[in-house]
Amino acid sequence: MTRPKVFVTRLIPEAGLGVIMAETEADVWQEQLPPLPEALLQHVRGKDGLLSLLTDRVDAEVMDAAPGLRVISNYAVGFDNIDLPAATEFGIPVGHTPDVLTETTAEMAWALLMAAARRVVEGDRYTRAGKWKTWEPQLLLGRDLRGSTLGIVGFGRIGQRMARQARGFDMRVLYYDVFPNDEAAAQLGAAYAEFDDLLQQADFVSLHTALTDDTRHLIGERELKLMGPETILVNTSRGCVIDEAALAVALREGWILGAGLDVTEVEPIQPDSPLLGLSNVVLCPHIASASLRTRSKMATMAAANLLAGLRGERLPHCANPEVYER
Ligand code: DGY
Repeated sequence: MTRPKVFVTRLIPEAGLGVIMAETEADVWQEQLPPLPEALLQHVRGKDGLLSLLTDRVDAEVMDAAPGLRVISNYAVGFDNIDLPAATEFGIPVGHTPDVLTETTAEMAWALLMAAARRVVEGDRYTRAGKWKTWEPQLLLGRDLRGSTLGIVGFGRIGQRMARQARGFDMRVLYYDVFPNDEAAAQLGAAYAEFDDLLQQADFVSLHTALTDDTRHLIGERELKLMGPETILVNTSRGCVIDEAALAVALREGWILGAGLDVTEVEPIQPDSPLLGLSNVVLCPHIASASLRTRSKMATMAAANLLAGLRGERLPHCANPEVYER
């Protein structure tokens, strides 16, 4: 029996890749860097399934190049790299990996929040540079979490997890979402606030929105000025949610105190980014879901989505369920 042909755009953990290799005729991209658009087009041609990463732009041209494509499985919870309306139009279900990375991503948001609040990276650099001469009463003073206000923008799975964990730090929690969830908020001890009120009241603002046309540059000059000089901004969602040029000015001129970013507008961050020269921003290379266990679970889930689509079954985790209504 002929096995379905798939293109896997990178080496994902064995937990998922092994299953895919066993069940399909898999063309697996072996390079560290993602396939360029031309290579993606070339490799997807003649395939029944595509396993993509958030670094692959999967648009109508890609779908058009593979008329037999029955499923796209994205190895991520986010799917802003995929033209979802086009996929639905082509009748292709798109899989993604929700839930399994909720805790891991929320934990990373805390890591960035605390690193920025307690100046961990600055302390590390200071120590390595041999500047630590004695215990100093006023060295690298930071911010306490206890008694402060956490503002969560986007109250989905990860935002709610942040709210739950904030209780352990005795923080007051405000949240903003276009779809307020009073029930979850009541359970988690969070209170709804209008967007501007949240920005004005929070000591820490953590972003957990999906990237859409509405959330692109949600945080710009106006919002950064609303936050105030003691506020720390954390982003583990998508870089384009923040207007990075405005953020760099805000950090340099002290409109806000600091930031912790796992994501940037252009990834990888460009060598001429003004953020690189600022000590009050902690930068990470989009690793919020990067724990061994979580990345393996994501691989298992992405493989399950891919194989279900190839069998013509409903995807266990489908980003465009409307595709089944056509
Ligand atoms: C996602 O899944 O969307 C994250 O950004 C990477 O795991």
